[in-house]
Amino acid sequence: MSNSGEAELLHMFKGIPFTTRSSPELLKSLDAFVAREDDVLLVSYPKSGTHWLTGVITKLYDTQVTITSPIEFGDVSKLEELNNLSSKRIIPTHLDYNMLPPNFKNKKCKMIYISRNPKDTAVSMYHYYRDNPNLPTIDTWSAFFDLFLKGNVVCGSWFDHFLSWEEHENDKNILFLFYEDMKKDLPRVVKKISLFLSLNVSEKDIQDICKKSSFSEMKNDTEKENSDPSHTVCALTSNRKLIFRKGKFLCAVGDWKNHFTPKQNRRFEEIFNEKMKLSKM
Ligand code: A3P
Repeated sequence: MSNSGEAELLHMFKGIPFTTRSSPELLKSLDAFVAREDDVLLVSYPKSGTHWLTGVITKLYDTQVTITSPIEFGDVSKLEELNNLSSKRIIPTHLDYNMLPPNFKNKKCKMIYISRNPKDTAVSMYHYYRDNPNLPTIDTWSAFFDLFLKGNVVCGSWFDHFLSWEEHENDKNILFLFYEDMKKDLPRVVKKISLFLSLNVSEKDIQDICKKSSFSEMKNDTEKENSDPSHTVCALTSNRKLIFRKGKFLCAVGDWKNHFTPKQNRRFEEIFNEKMKLSKM
């Protein structure tokens, strides 16, 4: 972070850095949020493929659904706004499991957690930070790398986030997905999602959905939309170039190799092995 004035762009809540777009009052009030049994949560650490997953899910429904902006974005009026929605709600969130409004857990709402190789996530987040005026300025990749490993970035530590959700991997209402699997075999993942959501989708529909969810199609669609960012999945930018970066290319999986030095890679692996020693990943 190069400028102390920019510290105002972030604030800490329960030890996790949030942007000031998530007001402390809203974060405090989340515990009282009233979930509905048919709410679906799309959960991710930032830059893990949230938009891609959202694109797929909207196309799976043939009934009216509303994709809201992330539950933690906005001010305290957000909860009322969500309460007033009459259609089925698909709610994205970057919250870790412990911060999730308890009513979602009590009502066993369906939740889909998408994860991605944390090295590629770090690189994607670096570019996102670099070009986003709503986030602190980052001078170099090496400076960002340190912040990422310490968890001093929006939404905190990737490791803590992943582990908090992985603990619930076997809960029947939670589906775990990986960005890399979507890149490898999207139809298979779409089928898995449709079964999890109990949606009846034909093979032909699946092929159609995959075509329409390709990087190029999604990028074109959102460029045409020109929507108010506070009502979109991202909520931190209206610059689509920050969201649709390299996903089209094969190197969207493994882009980290273009950024990590051998030393950084060793350090990352050490921390990964230590933090994830109890993980099945
Ligand atoms: P890169 O920055 O590595 O290109 P999120 O939606 O969670 O913010 O994640 C953004 C990442 O997902 C970006 O990664 C982006 O390019 C990639 N992405 C977005 N839409 C995609 C799609 N349809 N297919 C593949 N990757 C996609």
